[in-house]
Amino acid sequence: MTTTIRDDVELEIEQLRKDKNAVILAHYYQHPDIQDIADFVGDSLALSRKAAQCEQEVIVFCGVRFMAETAKILNPTRTVVLPDLAASCSLVEGSPPAVFKAWRDRYPDHVVVTYVNSSVELKAMSDYTCTSSNAVQIIEAIPQDQPIIFAPDKNLGAYLAKTTGREMVLWNGSCMVHEIFSEKHLIQLKEKHPQALVLAHPECEEDVLAHADFIGSTAGILRYAKESDATQFLIGTEARMIHAMKKEAPGKEFIEIPTSTGCACNECPHMMRNTMEKIRDCLRDLTPEITVPEELRLRALKPIEAMFRVTDGEVPTSD
Ligand code: 13P
Ligand code: SF4
Repeated sequence: MTTTIRDDVELEIEQLRKDKNAVILAHYYQHPDIQDIADFVGDSLALSRKAAQCEQEVIVFCGVRFMAETAKILNPTRTVVLPDLAASCSLVEGSPPAVFKAWRDRYPDHVVVTYVNSSVELKAMSDYTCTSSNAVQIIEAIPQDQPIIFAPDKNLGAYLAKTTGREMVLWNGSCMVHEIFSEKHLIQLKEKHPQALVLAHPECEEDVLAHADFIGSTAGILRYAKESDATQFLIGTEARMIHAMKKEAPGKEFIEIPTSTGCACNECPHMMRNTMEKIRDCLRDLTPEITVPEELRLRALKPIEAMFRVTDGEVPTSD
């Protein structure tokens, strides 16, 4: 039997994973080939829990930089590598730390809740972090009379304000993937598939979320699709999520909501930077490595620990 280049790369990854005592963690937005070779695939919250608890010496984080940084903050004695260091996020790019600090300083009596999709510096200036799967729980854990500022995603922030009834000052940032779903195309799709349920990520804009039967994190969307009696779903999140959905809920139909251009191929350019070849290379060379200065790490750890105390009652560790 002949092997393809893809098979060869996969075999090399397999060998290096053993030789380097490494674990491969992947987000649902990674290329299907990457999801298929990962030891664990999950949403941001599950991936950070896994990273905190992992026993292996090396963590290969197949996601974007803020996710790998969170892994390093939670498990600093491990070597954390990201296949492509340029895999960022529009929310991180849109919230420069110095500008954020000046904005935050205008609200000294406010609790600062920062979405985990943020730089280490922003986390270090925050009281709590949250992910899309626990954001409501975090906001509800803050006393009613305590004013809140939320950054850096205005769409998630608006959804939280609406869901919890809390007034929040919002940073004006957004996800370049979720903000471009088209309500017009969604309405047309609903007319064509009247039985289908709409599942959307809270980073989508309000006009799209208004049509959703379920709003949740990537893992939440997956769970809902698996457990629902419905068999057809219109999906308002990154297109590669559909690979995980087809795997976990075979026999059900998933249709990506189009963007304003009409294309149903809404992929995150940052997540797309990772490839099988880059995974092999970073395993072999243990670079690009994620490093966080210790003093900054300790400050960024505090709001992450505050988040886990609310959601888990304790902070996950590998001890
Ligand atoms: P989840 O935490 O829902 O996986 O979201 C991560 C993300 O980057 C969404 O764009
Ligand atoms: Fe950031 Fe959006 Fe990409 Fe998620 S999908 S990593 S929020 S740009």
